[in-house]
Amino acid sequence: MKKRILSGMRPTGPLHLGHLFGALNNWVKLQEEYDCFFMVADWHALMSEYEAPDQIAKNGREMIKDWIACGIEPEKSVVFLQSAVPEHLELAMVFSVLTPLAWLERCPTYKEQLKELKGRDITTYGFLGYPVLQAADITIYKANNVPVGVDQLPHLELAREIVRRFNSLYKKQVFLEPEPLLTKVPKLLGLDNRKMSKSFGNFIALSEPADTIRKKISQMITDPKRIKLEDKGHPDICNVFSYYGVLTDKAKIDEVRANCEKAKKGCTQCKKELAEIVIEYLRPIREKRERLGDADIDNILKEGNKKAREIASKTIDQVKEIIFK
Ligand code: TRP
Ligand code: SF4
Repeated sequence: MKKRILSGMRPTGPLHLGHLFGALNNWVKLQEEYDCFFMVADWHALMSEYEAPDQIAKNGREMIKDWIACGIEPEKSVVFLQSAVPEHLELAMVFSVLTPLAWLERCPTYKEQLKELKGRDITTYGFLGYPVLQAADITIYKANNVPVGVDQLPHLELAREIVRRFNSLYKKQVFLEPEPLLTKVPKLLGLDNRKMSKSFGNFIALSEPADTIRKKISQMITDPKRIKLEDKGHPDICNVFSYYGVLTDKAKIDEVRANCEKAKKGCTQCKKELAEIVIEYLRPIREKRERLGDADIDNILKEGNKKAREIASKTIDQVKEIIFK
């Protein structure tokens, strides 16, 4: 029997290169080895977008198009919408009554998000409970592993604590403690050298038009000490170089390094070439994406939601049986 994994993304905006190199490429590979569940976390999106939730559904459909275009295969993996499986909320309710407030208040991602999402009021009951719902997402499928980036580790640790508390309170090993599957990826910073994030608008979307890609990359910051072409560059402190690092092979990376360190090529040219590499890299994704219509997404979700719900409802029956026996 294959081990099961579950992961999810929030449909709060278009997917970008950070999602691709940080998560999606890894998900695609994991499909061979694991029984995979990939979830559109629309309830989680609502926690920050509740004042204007009108884009969540559309973003969700676009996100699934990106997933499929990048290689997620709905024949192999269960692709589903969180809100189509109401059992997640039932389990989150159960978990919420046994999760001490202090666990949530001390969660580092909570504090970070409060700072990052400044324009919005997320000092809400729901947002504090973000990791509780996430714990339910994972455990309702009894997933063994969760592929996540390091930023999500505190949520996973909370999920494990909640599982331990549930199992010990009710003296039944209903749930497994999910283990993280850490993706070994070099962190791709945003175009302005800050963390790549929707809230900063410093990303290249997977569906970005070629001309916008050229423009965005031409504005990237390079080695600040390299003012003239004759100045020798320091690729290791240059964000443009780190993009070459994830997008190209060793020969190309060595060539870019040499041209930079020996001042053989200027930054403008270096960025121009990078833009074309990004455009070529995204071309097959864009082409596959354009062949997908809304009806395809509806079909994928119909299947996926049904499969997810079958499993989720079994788990919730088991939980209610224990609590309300
Ligand atoms: N919190 C995750 C993120 O922001 C999204 C998410 C929701 C998730 N539920 C999940 C990820 C369950 C993994 C497992 O990226
Ligand atoms: Fe960066 Fe390329 Fe300029 Fe070197 S030549 S500093 S790698 S943009």
